[in-house]
Amino acid sequence: MSTEERLFSLRNRWFTVSVGLTVGVAAVSTLIGFVWLPSVHTDPQFMGIWNAICSAAGVPRQWYVATPVTSRVKTSEVVVTPTTFSQVDPLAIGRGATLAQRCSMCHGPQGISQANSPNLAGQYDTVIYKQLEDFQSGARTNAAMSPMAAALSDQDMRDLAAYYAHLPKLPGSPTASGNVPQIVASGSPMRNIAPCASCHGAADHKTGAPALEGEPAAYIHAQLQAFATGDRHNDIDAQMRNVARQMTRAEIEAAARYYAGQQP
Ligand code: HEC
Ligand code: HEC
Repeated sequence: MSTEERLFSLRNRWFTVSVGLTVGVAAVSTLIGFVWLPSVHTDPQFMGIWNAICSAAGVPRQWYVATPVTSRVKTSEVVVTPTTFSQVDPLAIGRGATLAQRCSMCHGPQGISQANSPNLAGQYDTVIYKQLEDFQSGARTNAAMSPMAAALSDQDMRDLAAYYAHLPKLPGSPTASGNVPQIVASGSPMRNIAPCASCHGAADHKTGAPALEGEPAAYIHAQLQAFATGDRHNDIDAQMRNVARQMTRAEIEAAARYYAGQQP
């Protein structure tokens, strides 16, 4: 009897035909999906049947390879501590004075600039040393200064730092006058700006923060703007970039005039 016939048997015509059809459809779709469709792509990862099959099946062509992340921006690697220049060395000051002759046309014969270059007289030795290192390494760039720093040895930089630090500052500190702008005295807690005076002197001083009193207003203004745009990026941990980015134009103006000793 037909009901006794075994269903899964090659002698059952219906079974043979349906299994055959299923296998055929699978083979055709494999060819289309893994070979024909990928072969139409011209990208290199589909070149050759094996690559095409791997790509169609989702196998990555290259397993994860860690590529080292390198920054295009050079940052400062100078380490200065309060004891970098612990004692006054008269020999170093003498050598520095000789070397400084070639700096005087811009920074003035006594370290007081007449030309909107920064004053160096009485500047912290750590600051002068760090800035010269940064100009040499390229962490800070300037058309006038980069070539000047290129040829200096480490000892030259230490001697120049000792010399300029020992010269007397521009007389008449602006910090003595009463009108301290809000941004200098108290910063802006809402915008996460610490008072300038907490790093740059008056309230407190952080090693590496330059003395700003008596610097030309144009210079301070330009530096704040360069920090804000990131053109100057040699400040360690972006201390100044974070401050300058948050400052308004009026605040930059006010701070520059104040430190330059001009009336607000
Ligand atoms: C051609 C003019 C010129 C000469 C020469 C020159 N400088 Fe400068 N220097 C500048 C200018 C301009 C700047 C400010 C750069 C800037 O705007 O970033 C500067 C900045 C500096 C600074 C950074 C000061 C700070 O407060 O950040 C130091 C330190 C310095 N110069 C030291 C020297 C020494 C040392 C020499 C001699 C070996 C020298 N300079 C020669 C023009 C000059
Ligand atoms: C958290 C500490 C900190 C605070 C707050 C701070 N500064 Fe600075 N500032 C620094 C340091 C550190 C440098 C030196 C960066 C470098 O290594 O070149 C610097 C550099 C500068 C310079 C460049 C001076 C030069 O001669 O190269 C200017 C201008 C300046 N700061 C202005 C300000 C003003 C204005 C404020 C307040 C709105 C302020 N800073 C707040 C730490 C600070």
